[in-house]
Amino acid sequence: MRSRLEDDLDSCRPLILFLGDERDDEDHDVLFPKIRESGVSVVRVHPIDLMISLKPSGPRFTVDGRPVRPKLVVGWVLDELLWPGMIQLDVFERAGIPVINDTMTLFRTANKLLDSSQLNTGGLLRYPVLSGYDRTALDPGFAPDGTTVVKPLRGFGGRGIERLESTSDYEMFRRMDTSLDSAYYAMPWVENPGRDIRVYTVNHHPVFAMYRYAPPGSWITNVTAGGRIAMCPLTAELSDLASRASRAANTLIGGVDIGEDVETGGYVIYEVNSCPTCEPPVLEMVADFLTEAVTDYEAARATWEPSHVYTTLDRDPKLFHPSKRHLIQPAD
Ligand SMILES: Nc1ncnc2c1ncn2[C@@H]1O[C@H](COP(=O)(O)OP(=O)(O)O)[C@@H](O)[C@H]1O
Ligand SMILES: [Mg+2]
Repeated sequence: MRSRLEDDLDSCRPLILFLGDERDDEDHDVLFPKIRESGVSVVRVHPIDLMISLKPSGPRFTVDGRPVRPKLVVGWVLDELLWPGMIQLDVFERAGIPVINDTMTLFRTANKLLDSSQLNTGGLLRYPVLSGYDRTALDPGFAPDGTTVVKPLRGFGGRGIERLESTSDYEMFRRMDTSLDSAYYAMPWVENPGRDIRVYTVNHHPVFAMYRYAPPGSWITNVTAGGRIAMCPLTAELSDLASRASRAANTLIGGVDIGEDVETGGYVIYEVNSCPTCEPPVLEMVADFLTEAVTDYEAARATWEPSHVYTTLDRDPKLFHPSKRHLIQPAD
């Protein structure tokens, strides 16, 4: 049993079902008690534990032989859980149960090409992208200064990302075997101050942002790749950009990765994430949004706004999870 069923499934309280696993346990330790404080039940079901039976009256869901009747489902499936989770989320959606983030949102944001394609449609992609299988199609002329960043189509956490600079980098890249798993995504290198900005959005409203600093000798800023963190006040420009990116990607809970291009002085959006590991200020807002959405989904979508947006500098380490406080970058 890999699910987290701490709530009484038979209670008459409305139930939120998180479809996911233990990878964001630290978030759930903060989020689930907050949700329960509002009189709402919440369980986390691992896709492997969920049984679905189709009846003429509609689908029935059980976990460990016990019926579950969620009023709202939260899709938190990534990596190897994405495909099994998407299938189950699609059944929930067809049963008329609202799903945040829904099947296609998760599918699209988990793929670098589709993520950028949505940003492009939203007028938010500020660099060229090349994606496909043919490695000979990428040459140094692709990027204005000859430096290209290549990424696996389905990566996250900074995994598998490489920078091609020299002729031999490009030659090595071309020599790799082609298979159905080897599709790549290429974009020009963005000259940046050694950090990027992660903006968290809830119902498309930015709520909190943090800088992520690349560790010494690296340029990949993801926390899982050793990045350090610091609170970043949300300016009007950042908020506007993140809100538009979140709408383009349809992420009702999202994390937008934004770079500061020191050559143009402007921002670039690297990607929108749909299952972002969050921090306590974000979880507070997520709990508030979800407890409203479980009662009246349409009304919450139309009217919910964060009660607090972090627009001014706040150096309180409690803005971050205890496990990440040692990663806080000291003030300059
Ligand atoms: N073109 C680029 N130029 C400079 N840094 C980049 C570029 N693309 C990505 N990065 C850095 O690598 C990090 C990870 O890239 P991202 O596209 O967000 O992939 P992932 O899904 O692995 O997080 C970014 O947050 C950014 O700091
Ligand atoms: Mg990222």
